[in-house]
Amino acid sequence: MNITWTDSDPHGQGDPVVFLHAFPLNSGMWNDQVSDLAGIRRTITLDWPGFGGSPLSALPPGSDQQTGVEIYANCLLDLLDRLEIDRTHLCGLSMGGYIALSLYRLAPERVRSLILCDTRAGADSPEVRRGRYEMASIVRQAGDEGIERLASTMIERLLGDSSRSSNPDLIGRVTKMIRQSSPEGVSRALEAMAERRDCTDLLPLIGGPSGVRTLIIVGNEDKLTPPSEMKRISESVASSEMFVIERAGHLPNLEQPESFNRRLREFIL
Ligand code: MLT
Repeated sequence: MNITWTDSDPHGQGDPVVFLHAFPLNSGMWNDQVSDLAGIRRTITLDWPGFGGSPLSALPPGSDQQTGVEIYANCLLDLLDRLEIDRTHLCGLSMGGYIALSLYRLAPERVRSLILCDTRAGADSPEVRRGRYEMASIVRQAGDEGIERLASTMIERLLGDSSRSSNPDLIGRVTKMIRQSSPEGVSRALEAMAERRDCTDLLPLIGGPSGVRTLIIVGNEDKLTPPSEMKRISESVASSEMFVIERAGHLPNLEQPESFNRRLREFIL
């Protein structure tokens, strides 16, 4: 079984933009960006195994032996091979950013540019790691009820105060996406994030000889990966550009799509 993906222009010329979704959402979180780039740039969105339309069986054989988010980076490499894409712009938000960095470690020659949104380069602290294993076990045992609990705790963390106080539609959309995730997919992703490698060593290489252009985007109300965290990434990646989006939390592409899209277009076009 393969992961599910959507390709806006399978015969399109030029390097596409591949969008990598956050935890515990799915490819639907990029709808505004895909619409904005329609007819301008080929876009590809995908669902990690166990999220959105991708079954858990889309995890590649032997993934139990792979550590951290490399499992997902390998799913992405498979997809790029299948679509015969040599190089791509990679736009990853949070967990999507961890996977973008992991893919860069595995195959830097496949990356045309990086758009890292609301993410971090370092590994988890022991406390965060412990919390992820606890949550993985709760969701695994509680099944759909665990997904409901996850949805109610995550909304507060994912959306900024401005969105939560003024955008009930967005709360509904994000909740719906979380409900489309499978309990086992969520648990596996939590364990993968807990075991992910520290990627801070990669940052000086990205802007170095490989010259991969990098855009850093973060919401000013993001409490999970605040602007200070993203500034550290920006300072380590030579000639990266950083853009802070006002009145947005951890999901600025959903919370302030116009501002996000404008900056993304300026960067990739
Ligand atoms: C995400 O948005 O992908 C998650 O918040 C990442 C994380 O839990 O570290």
